Formats: sequence, C-alpha cells, structure tokens
Amino acid sequence: MVLRATIAGCGGYLPERRLSNDELAAQYGIETSDAWIRERTGICFRHIAAPEETASDMGAAAAREALAQAGVDASEVDAILVATSTPDSAFPATAVRIQAKIGATKGFAFDMAAACTGFVYGLGVADSLIRTGQARCVLVIGTEVYSRILDWTDRGTCVLFGDGAGAVLLRAEENGGTTADRGLLSCHLHSDGRFGDILHIEGGAGSTGGPGLLRMAGKEVFRHAVTKLAAVVDEALGANGLTHADIRWLVPHQANARIIDAMGRKLNLPSERVVVTVDKHANTSAASIPLALNEARRDGRIADGDLVVMEAIGGGLTWGAALARF
Ligand code: ACO
Repeated sequence: MVLRATIAGCGGYLPERRLSNDELAAQYGIETSDAWIRERTGICFRHIAAPEETASDMGAAAAREALAQAGVDASEVDAILVATSTPDSAFPATAVRIQAKIGATKGFAFDMAAACTGFVYGLGVADSLIRTGQARCVLVIGTEVYSRILDWTDRGTCVLFGDGAGAVLLRAEENGGTTADRGLLSCHLHSDGRFGDILHIEGGAGSTGGPGLLRMAGKEVFRHAVTKLAAVVDEALGANGLTHADIRWLVPHQANARIIDAMGRKLNLPSERVVVTVDKHANTSAASIPLALNEARRDGRIADGDLVVMEAIGGGLTWGAALARF
C-alpha cells in the first residue's frame, strides 16, 4: 500500500460582473472587435472583480466549495497552498488570509509564484507533502485578479485575461498505488528562466520598480506553448506507462482556444474530451485549471475512475503537467 493524494473536492468562484468583448472595447476605448478576439483567442466573455474584491476573498469562496464537496471541515486542513500572481499584498501571504477567512487554524499556508502554471506547481508540492506524510489534507487554490495588473491601453494583452478562483481539496488515501487507483499519479514541473522577459510583470510589488503591469510577447509565448506542453504531457504519460489512448479528459490551462485545440490534436483527443472554459472566463491564469475542473466535475463530465491530464504554461517560463485518477 502507498499514500496517494486524492482529489476529494473541487470549488470555484467567479466575480458577478461579466464583460463581453464589445463591452470591454467600449468601456476602455480599445480599438478591437468581437470578431478579432473570438477568432484569435476563442474568448467571448471574462469576469471582472468588484473594486473591493481581493484574491483572498475569491480564493476563500472557492476553498469553501471544495471543502463542502469533500465533506471536510476547515479545522481538518493541514496546509493551504495558493498560486497567484495578484496577491492581496506581498505579505502576509494570500494563503494565510484565506486560512483566516475559512476558519482554519492548524498547519501552515503559503503562496506560490509560478504564474499560469501555479496550480500545477501547487499540485506537485501538495502531492509531495502528502506522499511523505507531512500533511493529510491540503487545499490547493488558484486565485487571480488580473484586471488590476493589465495595461488597459494595450489591446494585445488586456482582452486576454479575466478574474476568478478555483480550488481542490486533496486528501491522503492509502491504496494500491497503481495507475488504476485513485489520486494524483504524478506531477512534472519545469521552468526556464532564460525566457523570463517574454511574459512578465514590470515592477509593482517586486524590487525592480515600474508600474506593476503585465507585458507579453504573444507570438513568442505561442511558439513555446504547444511544443513544451505536448512534451510534458508525454513525459507524464511515459512515467506511468500510459499512452494518449488512456486519457479520458484533458483539462488544459485556458489561455487561448488555438493552443487548446492544437494540444487536443497532438494528444489525439476529440474536442468532446477537452474541457474548455476560455470562451466564458478568458485566461484566469493560475485559477483556470481548477475552475475548469470544478465545472466538469460538477456537471458530471469527469466521473469517478476517469483519468485526467492537466497541463499549463506561463510566465517564467514555467510549465508542467499532472495526471490524476478521480
Ligand atoms: N484587436 C485588434 N487587433 C489587435 C489586437 C486586438 N485586441 N491585439 C493585437 N492586434 C493587432 C496587432 O496590433 C497587429 O496589428 P499590425 O499587424 O497592424 O501590427 C495584429 O493584430 C497582429 O498582432 P499579433 O500580436 O501578431 O497577433 P497574433 O496573431 O499573434 O495574436 C495573440 C495575438 C492572440 C496574443 C497570440 O499571439 C497568442 O495567442 N499568443 C499566445 C499567448 C497567449 O495566449 N497568452 C496568454 C497569456 S500566456 C499564457 O497563459 C500561457
């Protein structure tokens, strides 16, 4: 028998305000069109946080849902890992704010900075904590308020992102440890800092000064995305002796419909087995995978026993994949 991290509950939160492409263009005076945004990205809508809403508010709401679905009380949580590029403040960590908001008091909580790959990094760290017996009950949360770090005069980036939060509750379970047993099978994490400047935040709470706004060389990011994502998914399958045919669901980072479609084709998956939310949520960075997971779990698409591949790439560059059996 081995210790495995099972995904016992999922949760999500989206701010009330939903903005269409046309509304965004009108509100910010952007020279763009609904047709351009849909055709290049697949995005139709995004949610925007209310002025007083913070990453910890949204993350706490998603965490409460995940706890409720798992039937776990906040007092049982040993660790809270929060992936975010838009923390409430540099410190205390957004994870600690969430700890207080959900009424958890034991264990520890900290933030992780891996941009859009943050949730996959969080799964990787939580998996290690659980396998080594350091924690039995771990919340992994992605929560983002990108509307606060976008340059609303830059049409090349401001149309791409949205706000939201997603969470999973991972619980230790002893099982046979085969690929047919429940839980995280493995997580595969990568980064290459040589590409740090193609997608980054200029200054802000960091030590380098600057306005704290997102900058991106979109074509460069696109160029890395599909090759690195396909390679890391194959690495994850290979490590478990599995093939493309074993995948039941692909839950990709929701950056762009063209990247998602290309990944589906590389993995020989029909579009019905790829979970897509980018049309409704835009890119919510570290929140995008847990939000998509939550939707597909709650509407019954992802059933018990299904093998799910999650993959993401983001600023760093960072990228990674996780394989989980529900
Ligand atoms: N509306 C209308 N025109 C626009 C817009 C817009 N919102 N944005 C850019 N354009 C114009 C440009 O100014 C340019 O005009 P020009 O030819 O007159 O100079 C033209 O459209 C082409 O611009 P490109 O940036 O070359 O457009 P491209 O086809 O590369 O599409 C996009 C841009 C969608 C960002 C694409 O590069 C992409 O998908 N990149 C992947 C990166 C990504 O998805 N990032 C998300 C965050 S990163 C992550 O999560 C992994």
